Amino acid sequence: RPKLPQYNSIDDAVRLLRESRNIIVLTGAGISTSLGIPDFRSKDTGLYSKLEHLGLSDPQEVFDISVFREDPKIFFSIAKDILPTEKKWSPTHGFIRLLQDKGKLLTNYTQNIDNIEANAGVLPEKIVQCHGSFATATCVKCKFKVTGDEIFGEIKEGNVPECTACKKVIAEDSLKSQGLKRKRSSNGQQKDRKVSDDSSDEDDYEIPTPGVMKPDITFFGEDLPDEFGERLIHQDREKADLVIVIGTSLKVAPVAEVPGILPRNVPQIYISRTPVSHTDFDIDLLGDCDVVVSELSRRAGWDLKHHMIPDD
Ligand code: OAD
Repeated sequence: RPKLPQYNSIDDAVRLLRESRNIIVLTGAGISTSLGIPDFRSKDTGLYSKLEHLGLSDPQEVFDISVFREDPKIFFSIAKDILPTEKKWSPTHGFIRLLQDKGKLLTNYTQNIDNIEANAGVLPEKIVQCHGSFATATCVKCKFKVTGDEIFGEIKEGNVPECTACKKVIAEDSLKSQGLKRKRSSNGQQKDRKVSDDSSDEDDYEIPTPGVMKPDITFFGEDLPDEFGERLIHQDREKADLVIVIGTSLKVAPVAEVPGILPRNVPQIYISRTPVSHTDFDIDLLGDCDVVVSELSRRAGWDLKHHMIPDD
């Protein structure tokens, strides 16, 4: 994507902010690090730099769906460290809320799974959670859904949360069979028999186990929520008049492709500690994102502080 030559400085960024009416804000883990939540790829502090003990060939496997299916314990051993906790938010989340209050926020596409945008009062209809979130969880076996809170206790303990609906069915089935267990006979037919009759056959009997509750975050190998592509291509692509990318290394497709998908005449601003080399932005504002958005707001004459006060 060739740069638009008319935009360079921080004052250009301020002018764009003031003039734009339909801003796409694309965010990543960097907007939550000031709250003590690690990002993924920062050297020494990112989550992926701290996973050596898991013995994975690539730390990203912790979010790989096939690894999860094989051994969910790996994911749940680190899930407590990335679980959303208190109702707090950073000045950068406050900035997104400020854009919403000013009627300028088209959509916040967030890769974050911490739900912190909602804490700052960004409305659900303004957010696309590209990589899902911890807000709900689904049983891998029977697809029973629960709200995230229902399994947070287990996750915090480092346990693998199990499906209560599966457990109920298993309990009812075992009651129904009244002590009888089903097993396959040598001719392939099923028959009912008392376990105690022949304990040497015990190995043939498969004990039913409840499914694991998987938080509805998008793992590598899973599709992004439909809303991502639908809204971006069919709604926002034509409407957007400014793109602000904040706190993401843009290493993960398809979100990394968003800047390239948008029309060339739409200016794009990048705010992060680390520059990206694979995409050209019109204005790079490198540094701590909370500091950058505070300065942008100050220069625009906007009161960012006001929006840090919780609603509830
Ligand atoms: P990364 O860790 O890859 O990138 C975070 C970026 O934010 C880096 O460029 C940091 O330099 C920058 N950063 C960190 N703290 C900052 C701060 N206070 N101010 C400014 N910049 C800061 O995280 P993401 O790009 O969000 O996916 O990662 C994308 C996806 O990869 C995640 O959604 C996750 C991960 O694997 C899944 O788990 C499916």
